Amino acid sequence: MRLSRYFLPVLKETPAEAQIVSHRLMLRAGMIKQTSAGIYSWLPLGFKVLRKIENIVHDEQIKAGHIPMQMPTLQTADLWRESGRYDAYGPEMLRMKDRHDRDMLFSPTAEELFTDTFRSYVRSYKDLPLTLYQIQWKFRDEIRPRFGVMRGREFYMKDGYNFDLTKADALHAYNRHLVSYLRTYERMGLQAIPMRADSGPIGGDDTHEFLVLADTGESEVFYDSQITDLTFGDREIDFDNKDQCQAVLEEFTSRYARTDETHDAEIFNKIPEERRRVARGIEVGQIFYFGTKYSEAMGATVQDAEGNVVPVHMGSHGIGVSRLLGAIIEASHDENGIIWPEGVTPFHVGIVNLKQGDDATDGACAQLEAALEAAGLEPLYDDRKERAGAKFATMDLIGLPWRVTIGPRGLEKGVVELTSRRTGESEELSMDAAVARLKEIYAKHPDPKGL
Ligand SMILES: Nc1ncnc2c1ncn2[C@@H]1O[C@H](COP(=O)(O)OP(=O)(O)O)[C@@H](O)[C@H]1O
Ligand SMILES: [Mg+2]
Repeated sequence: MRLSRYFLPVLKETPAEAQIVSHRLMLRAGMIKQTSAGIYSWLPLGFKVLRKIENIVHDEQIKAGHIPMQMPTLQTADLWRESGRYDAYGPEMLRMKDRHDRDMLFSPTAEELFTDTFRSYVRSYKDLPLTLYQIQWKFRDEIRPRFGVMRGREFYMKDGYNFDLTKADALHAYNRHLVSYLRTYERMGLQAIPMRADSGPIGGDDTHEFLVLADTGESEVFYDSQITDLTFGDREIDFDNKDQCQAVLEEFTSRYARTDETHDAEIFNKIPEERRRVARGIEVGQIFYFGTKYSEAMGATVQDAEGNVVPVHMGSHGIGVSRLLGAIIEASHDENGIIWPEGVTPFHVGIVNLKQGDDATDGACAQLEAALEAAGLEPLYDDRKERAGAKFATMDLIGLPWRVTIGPRGLEKGVVELTSRRTGESEELSMDAAVARLKEIYAKHPDPKGL
């Protein structure tokens, strides 16, 4: 992509309405545009990152054996009356009537619709276990939408639903989700800590929220500092192996880590003082086991091996896909702009031409662009007739993790300059060596396949 042909409406001024850094940077980097309170248009750069994050979520869900599908955003109220949530949900639910005066709503979540789909087709325990999921827009009429995509009214969410014969099977599904979520966040360059949480309007007993530590987070969190040493890394996991998944759950949840809703000062104070941490966090996901709450209310049953008709055990599991953009930026930026982790960057590398219009420099930039593309990488080439300073400022703002700068002086020596956005360190090397280095870096961060 050439910047002169792209649509990247960066802002020079810091927008006054944005209170936190990720919101400011997403507006300034031309990623989103507010269309009304808590509702955003996704401009090309923001859309690209959103898609990449979505595709990572798909990759990891599919690896865990979960099955993607898609539900409508508008639902009839009838299903929600069956579960009893139509009245219970309150003003966060956006309700409307169609031309026949039927009650409709914009889905804030989809337990009812997935349970209805399940009960329409599945009759036998032999079809279990089953986990279906979607990535779809949700609407919650938040009283105070704020912080940009972090607390929107319309937001993009992955929501998955497991259907199992027994509680033990459903708890295995819970553990599988925990493992797949750990992998998902790490692939995005994030540390998200599972913390014991409160179940809210979904209901149920077992639930963990995944929190990214950040001063601007909306949740107060309490944890044992040992938990931040844990990483899932690139270990192998067999998602069908109950013991393996249970062991990961135990590893990641045996140390104290809770949100304020479930915090217990008595237990917390037993941790050695130097390890006690009180901080803030951004909730980027949540997993629930809620047993037969929806299956009983809605008649989602199967025949077990003895021929008894029994309600299925369920859970639901969400990832805040659009919120993740904000969370990643909160965790990874500096005073000049965003610093994308390699796994989610919208373009792999920026090319800065220091002397646009100079034949040799233009030719070298085009040659590098072609070589990077041939290596399977996606460069963003700043080919505008701008000062070098302005080009650097744009690249720093939009946060591509790597930049190659090409100018006449380097070309005389046969070198280009490769710069890390994170460290600011630069290195002069031949064009071939720069391409080889970038290829090697991104071999560790392959682009998600998605669906
Ligand atoms: N208003 C919102 N804007 C953006 N993301 C949201 C919003 N509400 C929830 N999410 C994301 O969706 C995920 C799953 O939703 P859920 O756990 O049902 O939300 P909550 O705990 O806020 O009720 C949350 O972990 C969060 O990351
Ligand atoms: Mg939640």
